[in-house]
Amino acid sequence: MMKAATSAPGKVILFGEHFVVYDRPAIVSAIHLRARIEAWIHDQPGVWIGSRRLVNHPASRAIEYVFEKAGFTSGVTLKISSSIPSSVGLGSSASIAVASAGTASLITLGRIDEELVKLAAGEGEKIIHFNPSGIDTSTALYGGGGLYTRSRGFTPIEIPLKKILIIDTGKTRKTGEMVKRVKEFMEKNKERFDKILKREEELIEEALDAFRSLDLERLGRLMLENQSLLREVGVSSLEIEEAVKIALDAGAYGAKLTGAGGGGCVICLADEDRIEGISKIISNRFKVYLTELSADGLREEKI
Ligand code: PMV
Repeated sequence: MMKAATSAPGKVILFGEHFVVYDRPAIVSAIHLRARIEAWIHDQPGVWIGSRRLVNHPASRAIEYVFEKAGFTSGVTLKISSSIPSSVGLGSSASIAVASAGTASLITLGRIDEELVKLAAGEGEKIIHFNPSGIDTSTALYGGGGLYTRSRGFTPIEIPLKKILIIDTGKTRKTGEMVKRVKEFMEKNKERFDKILKREEELIEEALDAFRSLDLERLGRLMLENQSLLREVGVSSLEIEEAVKIALDAGAYGAKLTGAGGGGCVICLADEDRIEGISKIISNRFKVYLTELSADGLREEKI
């Protein structure tokens, strides 16, 4: 193909970020905010956006990986459009990497090779992450809801929630720094960290059970407990704590940071018929996104 377009979703981690880096399970869902990539090939080598050559970028690395595998030497120009805010824990760079690899797969093979896209997007993510678990790229690729572990990958699960309220604290952060912060905590507090990992694992089992019985109150309590474990390992922030408090005061069952923390976003769980009202109250202080869960994964788009 001479040109191709794809799109891939952002994600929210409902339970288990950071601990997933240590091969514990996490519950994740794709969201209805997407990145779209259009790509055209030409003779000028490299990956371009207009007259700017992209280097050391998740999109260019992912494309180069696919092109190298195919022995493809043409250059490519991209148009990136995304409704996913960047650097706030919603998987913006992963969805760009996945969608970019998807266009490269279409151009070189005429189809989307999921395994190839996963590897290529993982290479792209390494540029900005420190030791990525692969949860963001897997969710952008497969979509829906999932239980993810580093060693076993992405297992689709039904998430019986339609919408989730996302609070943007307005503070961006770097995932790599946050992952390093947790590693430092682990090195200084080995015994406590093992206990935290063990509790997190049980908490995920309890959350899966609460999803099955649609027990939102229990899920809310589990979210708050997950939030206190994340606070203990050093990835919460004043803004995150404020957002959690405002959400609870407004009537949410629970709230926690999502993604790497240190700023970024907080998710909050509420009854479907109260979620709009709660969203309004929170929007007096923070930017909020009320978004649907279990969105489609990587898909080809019309160009
Ligand atoms: O980059 P973010 O904010 O979407 O965070 C990714 C989730 C982490 O668990 C913090 C890191 C990882 O690679 O799993």
